[in-house]
Amino acid sequence: MARNATFEIGGRAYPIVDHTYDTVVVGAGGSGLRATMGSAEAGLKTACITKVFPTRSHTVAAQGGIAASLGNNSPDHWSWHMFDTVKGSDWLGDQDAIEYMVREAPQAVYELEHAGVPFSRNTDGTIYQRPFGGHMQNMGEGPPVQRTCAAADRTGHAMLHALYQQSLKYAADFFVEYFALDLIMKDTPGGKVCVGVIAMCLDDGTIHRFRSKAVVLATGGYGRCYFTATSAHTCTGDGGGMVLRAGLPMQDMEFVQFHPTGIYGAGVLITEGARGEGGYLTNSEGERFMERYAPSAKDLASRDVVSRSMALEMREGRGVGPEKDHIYLHLDHIDPKILAERLPGITESGKIFAGVDLTVQPLPVTPTVHYNMGGIPCNYHGEVMAGDPNDPEKIVPGLFAVGEAACVSVHGANRLGSNSLIDLVVFGRATGHRLKEIITPGTAHDELPGDSADLALTRLDHFRHAAGGSPTAQVRAEMQKTMTRHAAVFRDSALLSEGVTRLAEINKRMQDISVTDRSLIWNSDLIETLELDNLMAQANVTMASAENRKESRGAHAHEDFPERDDKNWMKHTITWFEGWGGNGGGVKIDYRPVHEYTLTDDVEYIKPKKRVY
Ligand code: FUM
Repeated sequence: MARNATFEIGGRAYPIVDHTYDTVVVGAGGSGLRATMGSAEAGLKTACITKVFPTRSHTVAAQGGIAASLGNNSPDHWSWHMFDTVKGSDWLGDQDAIEYMVREAPQAVYELEHAGVPFSRNTDGTIYQRPFGGHMQNMGEGPPVQRTCAAADRTGHAMLHALYQQSLKYAADFFVEYFALDLIMKDTPGGKVCVGVIAMCLDDGTIHRFRSKAVVLATGGYGRCYFTATSAHTCTGDGGGMVLRAGLPMQDMEFVQFHPTGIYGAGVLITEGARGEGGYLTNSEGERFMERYAPSAKDLASRDVVSRSMALEMREGRGVGPEKDHIYLHLDHIDPKILAERLPGITESGKIFAGVDLTVQPLPVTPTVHYNMGGIPCNYHGEVMAGDPNDPEKIVPGLFAVGEAACVSVHGANRLGSNSLIDLVVFGRATGHRLKEIITPGTAHDELPGDSADLALTRLDHFRHAAGGSPTAQVRAEMQKTMTRHAAVFRDSALLSEGVTRLAEINKRMQDISVTDRSLIWNSDLIETLELDNLMAQANVTMASAENRKESRGAHAHEDFPERDDKNWMKHTITWFEGWGGNGGGVKIDYRPVHEYTLTDDVEYIKPKKRVY
């Protein structure tokens, strides 16, 4: 901590505590911690700001495992992993970034092992790997490959503990229960540059200005703009909100993943590892219907395919229960000893959230919002793209993004299960490498602009004193219901265009928002409103991007345009939000080319073809 200043907004004084770092990472999930660890290990003065205690970040909920072609339990090769990821992405993934991820994956996993992650073991001592949807042997030909490295069904939890400990070992500073408000951006002749971030300490209300040579956004997804999601209530897309407020774009926001097995009613995740260990789905007639939709991969087809198949079964009246609105997941045929050893967490979740003993009963499940393929556009070094139409690869110096907050893009239109955890650590690690290359510790920082805290504090003060007639919870519920109804597993033109109009109206209610607590100390009313502001922008951008894309690809299943259209739509959507301050839902749309090339000559570009499982 060094200089202190006081800003005055609306006649109210906001004293500021100043900090200076080489790197500031925002978010302490898997990617944030891996970037923090890498930056600190490289000798850079590193801070990590997080709104929840690191080991409570949403990565804690990642169950089934992390994909890497170790080949411990079945033959495997990185090029097979690459093929599956490209096919899973429905050819919207950037193949240079995908090649980078799958080639670095084994090393990244071994580093985790050496960092202390207690992976489950095979009898020969190697890391245990299970099958997961869409991961196959022999360039997609099959059979399913065992590629997903697991620590029982608590892999993310185990990773967080190891990565947090390592970050502390390398002397990173943690600012725990600090909420990041806005980026500090500077206009230069070459474009915008990021020089820091403003945050608020939740327990005493102090405002902190972090000046840094790099800000890494590792803030996770924005799943909570839907009513039911496997995402934690903390998944409010705070990094995406900051990026949009900085006038920068988001990418491919129309692609929202529904996980096939959220517990019916509760939305709690039941890992795909359950089907990897032999679980299967049935409809009200007791039929294993996935055999009809995906004759080869069956229940281990990719998530978008399984979720759509379940939705079709329910739509055609073959859902289970009085409302025919869910499906059964069977694990009751699996040896209880195996369940206890490999799937203890979901066995417990089944009891707590569905009242089901899954060793003897089927579990009611339904497709549930799980992951955002879209996010802050960046390259495979974690550098954020500026969205310059004349130079699509132009970066924003000083700004990085990793994890679910980012769109590298390795997942394209649909992510394969267990490719999220590997994305977190491979690109968190890559960002650490890049920071080491470009930052020399101890060198001077850029001057802060005179208005460094204006955006953050004006917004904070505005919501703190908001005295309208619309409680935050009410506006949030309307946004969530609209997203759930209008941007679901299946979409059509009428639903989407109505969704765009409806969300713009709901956004206008931000002008009338009501916050009743005016203090700055543990003011959850205020923080939820700031989070809603972040969610609202991304909900609008998601709906507008979905309405705009006139094809079906990956998770975007458009009933009026049921086929993939590579000629017109093999391109990334990029979007800017112009509806701040409740000013309607204005969204500007442009495109970036998909990288139709690989990183090296070791592998050929994988040409688009029909995607069948
Ligand atoms: O099903 C799961 O265990 C979730 C994993 C993932 O989303 O990658």
